[in-house]
Amino acid sequence: MIPKTFVQELLGRIDIVDIVETSLPLKRAGTNLVACCPFHNEKTPSFTVSPTKQFYHCFGCGAHGSAIGFLMEYNGMGYVEAVKDLAGRAGMKVPEFTPSPQEAAKQVQSEELTELLQRAAQFYKSELKRSERAIAYLKGRGLTGDIAARFQLGFAPDGWQNLTAAFENYQAKALIDAGLVVGEEGKRYDRFRDRIMFPIINPRGQVVGFGGRVLDQSEPKYLNSPETPVFEKGRELYGLFHARQAIRDAGRIVVVEGYMDVVALAQYGIGYAVATLGTATTAWHVQKLLRQADEVVFCFDGDAAGRRAAWRALENSLSQLQDGKQVKFLLLPERDDPDSFIRREGKESFERLLAEAAIPLTGFALKELTERTDMGNAEGRAKFLQDARPLVKQVSAPILGLMLRKRIAELGGISQTELEDRFEFKVGRRVPAVPRGSPRRAPDHYTNLLERVLAEPSLVKVLWPLALPAPQAVSTEASALSDLIEQSRGLDQELTVAGAIELLRGRGHGATVQRLMPVVHDLQRMTAAELLVEIQGAVEALQLQEAKSRATEAAEGVASPRDLSQEDRALLRRAPVGETAVKPH
Ligand code: GTP
Ligand code: MN
Repeated sequence: MIPKTFVQELLGRIDIVDIVETSLPLKRAGTNLVACCPFHNEKTPSFTVSPTKQFYHCFGCGAHGSAIGFLMEYNGMGYVEAVKDLAGRAGMKVPEFTPSPQEAAKQVQSEELTELLQRAAQFYKSELKRSERAIAYLKGRGLTGDIAARFQLGFAPDGWQNLTAAFENYQAKALIDAGLVVGEEGKRYDRFRDRIMFPIINPRGQVVGFGGRVLDQSEPKYLNSPETPVFEKGRELYGLFHARQAIRDAGRIVVVEGYMDVVALAQYGIGYAVATLGTATTAWHVQKLLRQADEVVFCFDGDAAGRRAAWRALENSLSQLQDGKQVKFLLLPERDDPDSFIRREGKESFERLLAEAAIPLTGFALKELTERTDMGNAEGRAKFLQDARPLVKQVSAPILGLMLRKRIAELGGISQTELEDRFEFKVGRRVPAVPRGSPRRAPDHYTNLLERVLAEPSLVKVLWPLALPAPQAVSTEASALSDLIEQSRGLDQELTVAGAIELLRGRGHGATVQRLMPVVHDLQRMTAAELLVEIQGAVEALQLQEAKSRATEAAEGVASPRDLSQEDRALLRRAPVGETAVKPH
C-alpha cells in the first residue's frame, strides 16, 4: 500500500489542470475549465476541471475524480502506475517504491529499451515503404496505406543483420535485452527476418515489442518478441492504445485473437477491438478491459480452438465481474474470423452480430456446462453442479452471483439454499430489514453529512471529536462517512476534494461517491461557512434521531430507561430545528 499521507501530499503538489491539459484542450469558464467529455460522446462541453478543488466532474455522464483518477480512466493506468506517474512529474518518490539501486537501474534500462524498440519500429516502417513485396502482401490482404500507417506496420527485410543500419552498436547487449537481436557475442543476428512487423504499443504509447508475420506459408506464422523488462504478454493488449477513443465512444471493447483481426476491424470502422498476444486472456486483461468500458465482448473463431480460448477467457473473467458491467461471448461461424467476416459482410453486419448473437457470460457458462454432461439424469446433474462450483465461487459481484446461483440451482434440480449450503457459499452480512408498516424512512442524515463533507472536505475536522451514533441499518453512505472521518484523522494537510475521493476509493467506496457526485457539485456553490451550518444541523439531527429511538426502545421495554442518558433527555426536550451548536460527546 502506498501511504495515504503520501497520496494526499502528492495531490497537493501537482495541478490537475496540467495533467488533463496534456490530453484535452481545456477552455476557461469562470473559475473552472471545461472541455467536451472524453468519457462520453457530446457536442457541448460538460466536462469541468476545478483548479481550486483539484478534481474533474462531467455533468453529462457523472465521470469524476482526482488527477490520479484521470490517469486511470483516461490513460488506462493502474492505481499504482498513476501514482508513480504523478510522483515522477512532481519530483517525488513514492515511499514504498523508493527504488533500490537495482530498481533505479531497472528504470533506466526500461527507458533505454523502449527507445531502442521505437527506433527499430521506425526502421521497419521505412523498410516497408521500400519493399514492393511487403506492400503487395498487405494490399493483397486488403489493407489501406492509411490503416498500415495508423498501426505503424513495418517490414523486417530478409537478411541476418539488417538492424546494423538502425543502431550504431549492433553488439550492444541492450539489443538482446530488447528482444531485437539473438545469438552469441560475435555471432549475433536479427530476431525478425522477412516478416511484416506489428509493433505492440503500451497504454503510454511506447513500443514494447513486436509481432512478426511471415509473408507466405512458412512456420512459425507469427514470431513474437520474448518477454522483456518492458514486455509481459499477460499484461499487454494489442491495439489498446489506438482503440481508446473508439472504446469511449462505443462504450464497448471487442477482444479478438489476432493482430490482423484488430487491424482489419479498425479499417472497416470497428475501432474498439483489441487482441491478446497469442496467449490466453488473463484476469489482469479482464480487469484492465472492464475499467475502460462497461461491455466487453470476446469474439473468437467458432472452431474448437476458439471455443477453448473463450472458456479460458470466461474462467479468468469470473473474479473480475461487476454488477452493471457486461461480459459477453461471440463465437463466429466456423471458418470465419473477425477479419474475414468484416471484409465480406461489413461493419453493420458485424455490429448486428455483436448485438444479437453475443451471449452474456452467465448464459455462455451454463450452455457450456450443460453441454458437457447429460442433464437428463441425476448423475449428470450432479456433475453439472460439481463443475459449476469452482466457477460460482469466484464471482464476487453480488447480483450477478445471486442470479448465477439461482439459475444453477434450478438447472441442477435443487433449491438455492441447498446449493449455497453445498457450495459453502458465504452469504454476506444481512442488512436488517425495515420493519413492515413502519413510517417512511427518516431522511438519511448520514448521506446529507457525507455530501456536505465531500463538498468541503476541510470541514471533516469538525466531525473528528464527535462520536456519531451508529446507523440503524448498514448503509454504504454511513460506512463511507465513517471511513472518511477515520482515514482523514492524522493527515498532515487539509483534506481536499481530490484527497477525499482518493481516500474513499481506497476503502472501496468509489461507487458511492459516484452516486453522490451530482449533489456534491451543486453543494459546492455554498460557502464553507454555510456548509458548516448544514453539517452541524445534520449532526444534531442524527443525535436527536438516536435519542428518540433509544427513548422508544426504553418505552417498549427493549432497553431499560437507565440507558437513556442525561444528554439524550436534553436533546429530546430540545426543538428539532434551529439549533446549530455541535457539542463534542
Ligand atoms: P492471419 O493468418 O494473418 O490472418 O493472422 P491472425 O492475426 O488472424 O492470426 P491467427 O488467427 O492465426 O492467430 C491468432 C494469434 O495467435 C496471432 O495474432 C498471434 O498472436 C498468435 N499466433 C498465431 N500463430 C502463431 C505462431 O505460429 N506462433 C506464435 N507465437 N503465435 C502465433
Ligand atoms: Mn486471420
